[in-house]
Amino acid sequence: MFDFSPKQLEVQKTVRDFIAEYVTPNLKTIDEGDVPDSIFEAWHKTGLVCLVAPKSVGGIELDTESCAVVLEELAYGDVGIATAFGANNLGSYPVLIAGTHEQQVQHFTPILEGKYASFALTEPNAGSDAGAVATTAVKHGDEYVLNGTKCYITQGKYAIDMDSSLVMFASTDRTIGNKGLSAFLVKGGTPGLSCGKVEDKMGIRGSQTVELVLEDVRIPASALLGAEGDGMKLAMKTLDSGRLMVAAQAVGCAQRALDIAVEYVKTRSDGGKPLTKQQSVAFKLADMESSVTAARLLVYRGAKLKDNHQPYSHHSAITKLFTTDVAMRVAQDAMDIMGTYGYTKESGIEKIWRDARILSIYEGTNQIQRLVISGGLLR
Ligand code: CAA
Repeated sequence: MFDFSPKQLEVQKTVRDFIAEYVTPNLKTIDEGDVPDSIFEAWHKTGLVCLVAPKSVGGIELDTESCAVVLEELAYGDVGIATAFGANNLGSYPVLIAGTHEQQVQHFTPILEGKYASFALTEPNAGSDAGAVATTAVKHGDEYVLNGTKCYITQGKYAIDMDSSLVMFASTDRTIGNKGLSAFLVKGGTPGLSCGKVEDKMGIRGSQTVELVLEDVRIPASALLGAEGDGMKLAMKTLDSGRLMVAAQAVGCAQRALDIAVEYVKTRSDGGKPLTKQQSVAFKLADMESSVTAARLLVYRGAKLKDNHQPYSHHSAITKLFTTDVAMRVAQDAMDIMGTYGYTKESGIEKIWRDARILSIYEGTNQIQRLVISGGLLR
């Protein structure tokens, strides 16, 4: 559908080979929440462990279009694995946007060694309202002291256990709302930082979602990303990028559901009539294919806008809204076509349906995307 460059096609093949060898044979184990270490090790060996790491720190610095290719292919294999691996990109955007060279070296070195980064924004009372973060960062001499609780943080326990890098959002002045939000680089092993509850999730069980507790976490003043008060803009710019990658995952997820449904239809008959000859099934497949095609076009259009340094925030919200609804609908349609078999674990669709549900929730719910889109229209 697209004129991918030879390099992009090579990246696509690398991910497809990785999925076929390491993920597909382990889907049941992954869905039980147990990701074999061999998967992380093999992913590290692909060289794709952090897609956005700049060349100046030894990274591969992929363009956004190539990043979308990777996330689409990963999610075709397993949305949970795509989410887990994607955390290194999400957790890196603030450092790319605002980090000094020293901060970038500190952040990317462990990640390029195969460790996991985390983006820690959400809190029990600050989910959709990102500006309501209650974690505080108080300056004492040449240190900040952080206190608070974060929740639903992807790969957070890995980041702590591996002494990797977390981008932590905290308020340096709670009297001025989101203008007091600031972002910090925190090392996983810093005393006072611990992992609380590990969530037992409905889907994307190949990724880890945890609570983080900060009790008098002392970090050097030099860990501040940008200036005090830059946090809200950094978080929003990060999510503009992240939402495009969630959309790429949605396309991969939807494509997988469609492919499973097509295979099923080709091999089944009902009442002596092949499913391929049943118009109600054919119409559903046509709608699924049309939606996936439109969703993919939105993703790669967004990636192009970003790569060409054009405004893409509005487009990113539209893309996440549309594609993630497509993923859920296509998974549901595939299950409808497959009937009770689709409801069984053996069918593969049941898991995709559970995985697809998160896509319109994390990195900003689709209700938030509607606010962003309508806000852009009405401004
Ligand atoms: N780029 C740059 N700056 C932006 C921006 C963008 N895309 N969007 C907003 N801003 C700026 C605004 O210009 C404004 O700055 P000024 O005051 O200087 O003009 C500032 O940020 C605040 O903007 P708003 O007034 O629009 O902010 P708001 O409080 O009304 O909230 C919101 C806007 C869209 C609702 C926002 O809070 C939001 O996106 N919420 C969703 C949060 C979210 O997506 N969380 C996901 C967490 S991560 C995750 O899920 C991953 C995981 O690991 C599970």
